[in-house]
Amino acid sequence: MRHDISLTVNGDTYNLTVEAWRTLNEVLREDLNLTGTKLGCGSGDCGACTVIVDGKSVSSCLTLAVEMDGRQILTVEGLAPSGETMHPIQEAFIEKGAIQCGFCTPGMELSALNLLKTNPRPSDTQIRSAISGNLCRCTGYNKIVDAISEAGRRMKPQSKTRR
Ligand code: FES
Ligand code: FES
Repeated sequence: MRHDISLTVNGDTYNLTVEAWRTLNEVLREDLNLTGTKLGCGSGDCGACTVIVDGKSVSSCLTLAVEMDGRQILTVEGLAPSGETMHPIQEAFIEKGAIQCGFCTPGMELSALNLLKTNPRPSDTQIRSAISGNLCRCTGYNKIVDAISEAGRRMKPQSKTRR
């Protein structure tokens, strides 16, 4: 069965017709060509597919697209929409060497954003807790924790209103 849905992704509204079984991850990557959102395990274990829906972190591989009717979604492409300047989280990840293969990075950065929105000066323990659902097979996590801590220091008050 197919359903008509309307969802907003990174500020743009899309009217789509989707099969009931398709996931948000599939629709983002295949229909909207927003391939920054990755598909890793497909079972809710790795966090590579993390997006933010109405202000909450969500595994897009476990979320049906039909549930997204009327929702506001942020993907990694929306962190720095203009493409001209990077978000402080992206800058910090690069500068701290927190990216190796990069497969986990979109999900990590969105989990970081969700943390820093409410807690701009998190402890390392709080950062590790916030990214506990995001697996990284490359970095050993220390540089990611450093990057998120640095991003918190860089995010000025007006940055809290940024995506
Ligand atoms: S791909 Fe969704 S949690 Fe791994
Ligand atoms: S940088 Fe490769 S999985 Fe994290």
